[in-house]
Amino acid sequence: MDRYTVKDYLNWKKKGDIVLVLEDNGVIKGIVDVVVKGDYLLLDMIAVHALFHGHGVGSKLLKRVEELARNMNKRGVVLEALDSAVDFYHRHGFIPLYKRADKEFGVLTVMRKEISVLETVRS
Ligand SMILES: CC(C)(COP(=O)(O)OP(=O)(O)OC[C@H]1O[C@@H](n2cnc3c(N)ncnc32)[C@H](O)[C@@H]1OP(=O)(O)O)[C@@H](O)C(=O)NCCC(=O)NCCS
Repeated sequence: MDRYTVKDYLNWKKKGDIVLVLEDNGVIKGIVDVVVKGDYLLLDMIAVHALFHGHGVGSKLLKRVEELARNMNKRGVVLEALDSAVDFYHRHGFIPLYKRADKEFGVLTVMRKEISVLETVRS
C-alpha cells in the first residue's frame, strides 16, 4: 500500500498487533497497525491508499485508534511521525516530544496524544 503491503499488516496481526482496516465496497482504502505499549497504544504504521489521500481516511483511522485507547483504558496514543506527516498528526492534537534518527525511516518525530478520561457527549 505504501512501503508495506496489506500482507505485511496481516502478518503483524498474526504476531499479536491490532490491525484496523477501512474498507469500502471491497476496496481497502486505509490500514493501521497498533501495538500495546504499557499505558499507551503505539500507532506503529498507518497507510492510506494513494488514490484516497486527502479524503478523510487517515483521520477516521486515527479517531478509531483513539477510541480504542479510551476503551482499553489507556492514557493515550504515541507514534513516530515521518517529517511529511508531522503536520497531519499535529492537526489531530498530537504533541511533538522529541526527534530521533532511524536507520530505515530517517528523522522521526515522537508524538503523543493524551486521551481525556472524561468522554465528551454532544449536547
Ligand atoms: C499521512 C496520511 C496517513 C494521511 O491520511 P489521509 O487520509 O490522506 O488524510 P485525511 O484526508 O484524513 O487528512 C485530513 C486533513 O489533513 C491534511 N493532510 C493529509 N495528509 C497530510 C500531511 N501529510 N501533512 C499535512 N496535512 C495533511 C488533509 O489535507 C486534510 O486537511 P483538511 O481537513 O483541512 O482538508 C496519508 O496521507 C498517507 O498514508 N501518507 C503516506 C504514508 C505516510 O506518510 N504515513 C504516515 C507515516 S508516519
